[in-house]
Amino acid sequence: MNMTDSSKSQPLLLMVAGAKGAVGSTLAVVVAAMSQRPESILPSLTTAEMLSDLLPSKPVHMVGWDLNDRTLLECIKTHGVLAKDLWEPYESKLDQVQINIPPKASLDLLGQVERLKQDILAFKTQYPHAKSVLINLLPAAPTRDLNQFADLSQLYSKLAPEDLPDLPYIIAAILAGVPIVNFTPNQVEIPVVIKEAIKQGVPISGRDGKTGQTYLKVVLASALQARNLIVDGWYSLNILGNQDGKNLMDPNRAAGKLSNKTDILDDIMGYKVGERYGVSSHKVQIDYYPPRGDAKEAWDVIDFLGVFGLPMSMRLNLQVRDSVLAAPLVLDLARWMIVLQMAGRSGPVPELAFYYKKPVGHEPPLTFQDQVAVLRELRLWCHERILKDREQEAAGSRHT
Ligand SMILES: NC(=O)c1ccc[n+]([C@@H]2O[C@H](COP(=O)([O-])OP(=O)(O)OC[C@H]3O[C@@H](n4cnc5c(N)ncnc54)[C@H](O)[C@@H]3O)[C@@H](O)[C@H]2O)c1
Repeated sequence: MNMTDSSKSQPLLLMVAGAKGAVGSTLAVVVAAMSQRPESILPSLTTAEMLSDLLPSKPVHMVGWDLNDRTLLECIKTHGVLAKDLWEPYESKLDQVQINIPPKASLDLLGQVERLKQDILAFKTQYPHAKSVLINLLPAAPTRDLNQFADLSQLYSKLAPEDLPDLPYIIAAILAGVPIVNFTPNQVEIPVVIKEAIKQGVPISGRDGKTGQTYLKVVLASALQARNLIVDGWYSLNILGNQDGKNLMDPNRAAGKLSNKTDILDDIMGYKVGERYGVSSHKVQIDYYPPRGDAKEAWDVIDFLGVFGLPMSMRLNLQVRDSVLAAPLVLDLARWMIVLQMAGRSGPVPELAFYYKKPVGHEPPLTFQDQVAVLRELRLWCHERILKDREQEAAGSRHT
């Protein structure tokens, strides 16, 4: 079914917190390429076909915030994710991407939210016809329990922005009616945030993008589970040399990421892996190894049991590019959030579990096959809702 309505020609505006990081700056190049040469990006998107009749593939714009005072182009060069010939054709476009300085650290949480809300409204004025999405790409933060707050005013009075620097961006976006992609491992989807998102009619998805090792872990674990092969142990090691890897050497900052990477296996298998040893035999290690930069390497040793409990084993060696896997997924998620908002969805979206290590919301699908099936159902649901709204609008305008 083809949608000829005006929403198909509306641009997409990505508002990126952490826009000059490895993922953010790679995303900037992907966005620039998408507008000028969509054929170089579209084949790498999971939504290219799935959402093609609901959304335009271009134009896409990016704006954002970052603490780093170097230019976006300098950051692209320093991260070294993409070779020069890949970003050079878009140099002038990349030079024009507006990246604001974050609010002053001296402002309290409410002050920061107000400042960011003004930025968001100014971005919206600059791109008046665009549909906006907030993309959270801030660094992994130490985990904190923030579930006790009943409402925003309590949060404002009890919490400092440095407790979770992502929160001012998330709250400002929700108050401005902008949907959220939380690609970080940081738990921003606390009850008060969810409550406000539902109140404002804003969909929110997260957390922790599932890009490489964990994506394949879900695939393999689902395959073993489908065959009733018992996982006896699973050892996962990652080495990476980018800023994210360095940041994750702080055990407090790594805690959230490690738990997102670990919980997923027991959830899929339906039992605690290693129960017979009295300790979990699912181990995940992340190690900062500078020579690798963004070219991450991961090893998995998977021990499993067949009939009569006979042991078998499998090895996986993954050599990937962290930000190259992440950037197109971020664009996919932004496209989903726009479609979900058009379909009238608000609050957490567990159906996007395919994209996340720790999907938010009630009873997300766990196995790979369920995650793919639920994604297809979500697409159908959005399509029907959007079409119905269009038909009602058209009928309304015929009667007036
Ligand atoms: N690369 C992947 O495959 C992948 C997968 C899942 C999750 N993630 C997560 O995505 C996030 C981004 O990853 P990355 O590799 O780009 O990290 P990065 O450290 O390279 O980038 C983070 C950026 O945020 C900026 N920043 C820090 N505090 C800020 C603030 N208060 N306001 C605005 N900007 C601020 C930094 O200056 C930096 O440019 C991380 O949380 C990472 O764990 C990445």
